[in-house]
Amino acid sequence: MDSFILLSLPQSYVKLANKAVRENKLKVASALYFKAAESALEAYKKTHDNEEKEYLEDFIRNNIDLARYYNPAKKEATVSKGKSNSKKEIKDITAFDIPSKTFEDVAGMQSIKKDIEKKIIWPVTDPEDYRKYVGGGCRGVIMYGPPGCGKTLLAKAAAGEANKSGSSVKFYKVDQSDIKNMYVGNSEQNMRNLFENAAKNQPAIIFFDEVDSLAGTRGKDLSGHRKDLANEFKSDFDDITDKTILVIGATNHPWNIDSAFVRPGRFEELIFVPPPDLEARAKILEIHTKGREIDNEIDFNKLAGLTKGYSGADLEKICKDAGLLAYERKRNNSENSKINYSDFLKGIEKTKPSLKQWCAEVKDQMIDGRYPDKRVLRKGISEEFKVILDVVDQLEDIF
Ligand SMILES: Nc1ncnc2c1ncn2[C@@H]1O[C@H](COP(=O)(O)OP(=O)(O)OP(=O)(O)O)[C@@H](O)[C@H]1O
Ligand SMILES: [Mg+2]
Repeated sequence: MDSFILLSLPQSYVKLANKAVRENKLKVASALYFKAAESALEAYKKTHDNEEKEYLEDFIRNNIDLARYYNPAKKEATVSKGKSNSKKEIKDITAFDIPSKTFEDVAGMQSIKKDIEKKIIWPVTDPEDYRKYVGGGCRGVIMYGPPGCGKTLLAKAAAGEANKSGSSVKFYKVDQSDIKNMYVGNSEQNMRNLFENAAKNQPAIIFFDEVDSLAGTRGKDLSGHRKDLANEFKSDFDDITDKTILVIGATNHPWNIDSAFVRPGRFEELIFVPPPDLEARAKILEIHTKGREIDNEIDFNKLAGLTKGYSGADLEKICKDAGLLAYERKRNNSENSKINYSDFLKGIEKTKPSLKQWCAEVKDQMIDGRYPDKRVLRKGISEEFKVILDVVDQLEDIF
């Protein structure tokens, strides 16, 4: 939905409220700002678009602030999201996991695994010696790359790998919606609680999905609330110097991350997680059909050759679809019920390579000028991310 349409009713309340302020009818103004926030909340409930949600959150919070400002008696003004009240809105985001997945569950990416061993596993499993040799240890790593290609899986496997050696690394998986809250101060509180809990349970890895929405630039126009949250994030980051906590941020849009976060002491390492290559695709298909009723003759390398441009998640889906076809035959008492080559081909045909859309999006966001000969990186995008364009170029040949 268009933000303009979403906000047309709330904005009409804001206009009336502004008018009331000009006429010095401050209580009326306060009530109208509150109405604006309430009607924006209705729009918030209807949209599933993250950007729109963020925009609306800011809008709601700003208007609640204004409602409170013009009528201090209404200090407790909140808009209720469903049945919850403002206190309950502070989430318990302290649940963690001790992952059992290891690098064996992740196909390919040998050099990335080595990199992760040095940058993530060593500092959390052997912090004392690591400090003696390397210093304060790395505190944060950004994993970036296309969707469905193993960032979350790699992060979990890194914790699982660390635990193989007898450590007990806790893994906190945090989505932006776990942190963000539309009431003033609550998001910052969520962030603080998270870091405090990880400190109590160290060694720990905190994994932030879509980290650009918490540490994003849209720098200059960050609203007060988002700035407060980003500042809280930075300060919590700075407080883990002497703790065995590693922060991993994952994003598909690394150029959106505020450079204040990408520096020594915060996210000091960037790891590109690319689409799976031929070998990795064969292995992903193998991993995701392990233990299933599969025809022994299946040549995964051949299937991998047909799936360039498919993400790990796409390949997992193809395995499921192929399995379902064979299972249907089994239910119909067919003799030929093993998952066979033709089932995989049908699965491939049915699934569109999701990286196609990613390629288009990346070009749109990264490149200025005519593609491909006169292209230049958009202002503010680091040369480091050119590696993404190389991958896009290779994939575009097949789409
Ligand atoms: N290299 C791989 N080996 C095995 N499975 C993989 C691999 N890459 C992806 N997958 C499978 O694809 C699914 C999606 O992977 P994952 O969630 O790690 O992607 P992501 O990069 O975090 O995506 P997003 O950016 O959308 O969060 C997982 O369930 C995983 O099983
Ligand atoms: Mg992920």
